[in-house]
Amino acid sequence: MYFHIMTLFPEMVLGGLRTSIIGRAEEKGCISIEAVNIRDHTTDKHKKVDDYTYGGGAGMLMQAQPVYDCWRALDERIAGRKQEQNVQKTRVIYVTPQGEVFSQRKAAELSMEEDLIFLCGHYEGIDERVLDEIVTDYISIGDYVLTGGELPAMVMIDAIARLVPGVLNNGESAQTESHADGLLEYPQYSRPEVWHEKRVPDVLLSGHHANIEKWRLEQALKRTRERRPDMYEAYIREHPVKPSKK
Ligand code: ADE
Repeated sequence: MYFHIMTLFPEMVLGGLRTSIIGRAEEKGCISIEAVNIRDHTTDKHKKVDDYTYGGGAGMLMQAQPVYDCWRALDERIAGRKQEQNVQKTRVIYVTPQGEVFSQRKAAELSMEEDLIFLCGHYEGIDERVLDEIVTDYISIGDYVLTGGELPAMVMIDAIARLVPGVLNNGESAQTESHADGLLEYPQYSRPEVWHEKRVPDVLLSGHHANIEKWRLEQALKRTRERRPDMYEAYIREHPVKPSKK
């Protein structure tokens, strides 16, 4: 899968993503991450990419021209690679607090794409006319405002990339973790058996797989009910508890 990030701060995005699991996945060739500098596409002789907003108001706005030309160059390059395949247009995600809130479900949907373009805004945002022309998805990472789109793009790319086959070593872990099935994950323990006088629950040492699975589901339900009652209600609606047989 190919991730393309349009940004004024390529080194920030690449520095963050080219480490640890996502960095190793890129070295292995499971994914590819590139950051293109919007400033390289400005026609302004002083390399300016922003200007005051019409109608007044605080702050500067990113102008349409550099954003559009950056996207055109990138989109043509992607289309060139896909030439033979007659595929759909590459989705362009504008990361913005005005978007749909990102979720595990959205990450799974986006992980099916071959290419994704992320557009990171700065200052007060981007001229609406270019957004109208190129953006296919408006996505937010939560109801709070950050200074730019780079961190949200990195968050989304991390969440999407780890669902791409081969990125995680253990194929199972993307399936069993929190949110994958609508529940938070059960508690986990490693050695030693006793730490600060706290014992690992006996059932986990029993080797009885059916009992371990049952315990884990109970713990996941309990944790979700306590910490995320909204998720618990949704889960119970979809998985009504069967009355136990006597
Ligand atoms: N840009 C600034 N704040 C943001 C947020 N919460 N989500 C996505 N992009 C943003």
